[in-house]
Amino acid sequence: MAVELARQKVGVVGAGMMGREIGFVFALAGHEVVLTDADPAALDAAMDHSRDLLASGRFGADADLANLTPVADLSAFGDRSLVIEAVFEDAEIKGGVLRELDDICPAECVIASNTSSIPIATLAESLSPARRSRFLGMHFSSPVSRMEFLELISGRETADEVMDFADAIGRDVGKAPTRSADVAGFASNRLLFALLTEAIRLVEEGVATPEDIDATCRLALGHPVGPFRLMDRISNTLVRDVQRILTDAYGARYETGSALEDLIERGHTGRRAGRGWHRY
Ligand SMILES: NC(=O)c1ccc[n+]([C@@H]2O[C@H](COP(=O)([O-])OP(=O)(O)OC[C@H]3O[C@@H](n4cnc5c(N)ncnc54)[C@H](O)[C@@H]3O)[C@@H](O)[C@H]2O)c1
Repeated sequence: MAVELARQKVGVVGAGMMGREIGFVFALAGHEVVLTDADPAALDAAMDHSRDLLASGRFGADADLANLTPVADLSAFGDRSLVIEAVFEDAEIKGGVLRELDDICPAECVIASNTSSIPIATLAESLSPARRSRFLGMHFSSPVSRMEFLELISGRETADEVMDFADAIGRDVGKAPTRSADVAGFASNRLLFALLTEAIRLVEEGVATPEDIDATCRLALGHPVGPFRLMDRISNTLVRDVQRILTDAYGARYETGSALEDLIERGHTGRRAGRGWHRY
């Protein structure tokens, strides 16, 4: 199917770690992006982050943020052709945002969720039946401006042309799309959490320290970053949220002891907090 990609009108909801860079890469690829967040401070921080990314020089001397507009709410989403939702990993919160988007966005607008783990069929229940064929999962990986990964997930009712559109626009913004069936955690996070939960168990059993497990993954397995540094980057609260969703779906397979919960209770939520499994 030929997909018209010239300068799409894109909206991103949630300007946190993921949404701010999703907005950035679409804007740099020439699409017209509006970015919003319920927390005005998060939106300001996202624009500062985008300016820092540009200043890094990685995107060329001609790159600018002319295509990226922060907006206070969803009222600017009435003319979008693609909207990507990247709010907290919570089915109720996402459901509320999706219901609002369904009302505001044009009928032909494609709505995508960047959920890490919640089945697209579950989220689709928050949308009107007419919208469900235009809803899918577009799961990016952090940092979005560096990682080529984009996992596309079709819900029960997603139209083939919508998958084709997501594939084409994903490639247009520099990603290399893969596909996963619509299972909790999709292929990527079932795989990642097999590693993360085993790493936590190794620490809980006193087999090895986070430092040594990180070194093992780098030196023996060739991973660019070990599982504990990775959890600190993702944020340990999000790791806990996804682990709960996977445990609800698959049972003991993704269960660990209390080490992760204890860490979060002590405020060690990850790199942004300056402390997690490691100190920063
Ligand atoms: N962090 C990762 O490595 C990663 C990777 C892939 C996918 N994801 C997924 O991306 C999504 C966002 O994760 P994140 O790490 O960016 O989280 P984050 O906490 O950094 O950002 C979420 C943002 O959503 C905003 N928000 C919450 N409710 C909102 C609402 N009702 N309306 C508008 N904005 C709202 C928050 O203020 C916050 O700024 C989650 O679904 C997560 O599972 C995260």
